[in-house]
Amino acid sequence: MKPPAPEIERILFTEEQVTQRIAEVGAEISEKYRGRELKLIGVLKGSVFFLTALARQIDVPVKIDFLAISSFSSQPSAPGLVRIAKDLDDTIEGQDVLLVEDIVDTGFTARYLMRTLAARGPNTLALCTLLDRTSRRIVQIPVEFRCFEIPDRFVIGCGLDYLQLYRNLGFIAVMKHERSQ
Ligand code: IMP
Ligand code: MG
Repeated sequence: MKPPAPEIERILFTEEQVTQRIAEVGAEISEKYRGRELKLIGVLKGSVFFLTALARQIDVPVKIDFLAISSFSSQPSAPGLVRIAKDLDDTIEGQDVLLVEDIVDTGFTARYLMRTLAARGPNTLALCTLLDRTSRRIVQIPVEFRCFEIPDRFVIGCGLDYLQLYRNLGFIAVMKHERSQ
């Protein structure tokens, strides 16, 4: 067990709670896509930890692919500007696709990615997120599967970083004061 970082104020969800909830959502997804093959698309780097844990809890055939984005949403003058820095390896045309996110906050990133993926002609396209912070939503975006709703505090762990650190924490924690965006 790694020592918790000094920047942690409190743990929101323990590793056990996260594991349990991912198993529940994995079962929901398995039921929804029963009899079909599912393509999970992860957004580098934040969703990698969630995607791998989730994929193990899904019992329909699963393929995975990844993309990476650059986000400029920290600039108040141009909120929500996102571009693809690394694209998928394969086509998604005609496939059942689930976009897997670490967190949906303002919704700009997820909306951009859903629109981009929809334009490629998948059979179905849905969104699954580990964390949902609906209190900060600016653009409306349907979230089909969510593990946890969280308060308006900056969080780390389970793939979520602060200055690229703490992604490897098994639990989800609130940072003491920093907010990096
Ligand atoms: P959105 O476009 O505002 O929905 O932002 C989503 C992205 O912001 C996520 O993919 C994260 O990379 C980042 N983000 C938002 N809130 C947090 C947080 O509390 N901790 C770490 N990263 C966050
Ligand atoms: Mg991030």
